[in-house]
Amino acid sequence: MPMPTQVTIREVGLRDGIQSLGAFIPTDQKIALVDALSRTGMKRIEATSFVHPKYVPQMADAEEVMQRIQRRDSVSYEVLIPNVRGLERAVSARADLVYVVTAASDAFNERNLRMSVDESLEVTRDIKQQADRVNMPLAIGISTSFGCPYSGDVSVEQVLRVVGRLVEIGYPEITLADTTGMANPIQVERTVGAVLDRFGSQATIGLHFHNTRGMGLANVMAGLRVGVTVYDASLGGIGGCPFAPRATGNICTEDTVLMLHEMGIQTGVDLVRLIDAARMAEEVLGQTLPGQVMKAGPIEHQPTAAAA
Ligand code: COA
Ligand code: ZN
Repeated sequence: MPMPTQVTIREVGLRDGIQSLGAFIPTDQKIALVDALSRTGMKRIEATSFVHPKYVPQMADAEEVMQRIQRRDSVSYEVLIPNVRGLERAVSARADLVYVVTAASDAFNERNLRMSVDESLEVTRDIKQQADRVNMPLAIGISTSFGCPYSGDVSVEQVLRVVGRLVEIGYPEITLADTTGMANPIQVERTVGAVLDRFGSQATIGLHFHNTRGMGLANVMAGLRVGVTVYDASLGGIGGCPFAPRATGNICTEDTVLMLHEMGIQTGVDLVRLIDAARMAEEVLGQTLPGQVMKAGPIEHQPTAAAA
């Protein structure tokens, strides 16, 4: 499989990144961060989620965020939803794409969405039917595709089963998510390779990694080797999951973009503007973020004055 020459980054920092932070981030600051990301050339931004505010209070201002961001035609402003009620809210808020969520393991799905995987697959069918009526584009993520923090290993067969059901329902884009950073690169090649062999001609397969155990970018490399061209990432590496103990941030957007660009893979994202946005996120959150490129800076390929 030749390496892709172009990759799409889906920025998820404003959703996955901040959803588990204790202190409520003021709505104005969330909007300022989305607007800063819109100026980087990023084509897909998950701006918020329409979930129950009791379970995820950080997302209680989802409507206002969607209403007040400055939209650019070149950017798809996407939102996560768990159910039909979330879809209705997303449609009213004029999301460009709705990202549905389910899981590969019952133990995680019961805690995250309060339903078994099979129940949640039925919900995804209802969502698809209702979304089609209003022509709302859909994608879907499968949490715990590479392991579950509550029930351990997740078999490739189980991932194939869930992907198969979603393909049959008609989801055009399916993301395999490593919710708590349990995946290793060989496992990614094996699992994603099997999914692409079976379903690659019927759906776009995306990847969502957390860097919980430092394997995030190695896993991106494994995804590239089997031909995956869509990756979620979070500005500055912000993140965690309120329903996954000890999960830390997603792979960091600027670190991922730098690695891709250095390898000759295009993203359309301006790294310098992205680093500025990551620094703004650090200020807003009042904490040092895990991203490394925002500290070290881009690689200078010409000798610099300092080095000479
Ligand atoms: N947004 C707002 N309110 C919602 C909602 C949504 N998406 N879905 C359900 N509700 C409301 C219902 O209207 C109902 O309200 P009422 O009591 O006033 O009638 C109430 O919540 C209970 O509905 P129910 O379907 O029984 O929900 P639940 O308590 O079983 O919770 C979820 C299910 C999916 C809504 C909840 O677990 C959730 O929001 N999970 C998201 C978790 C998350 O964001 N994880 C991280 C991202 S993967
Ligand atoms: Zn995640």
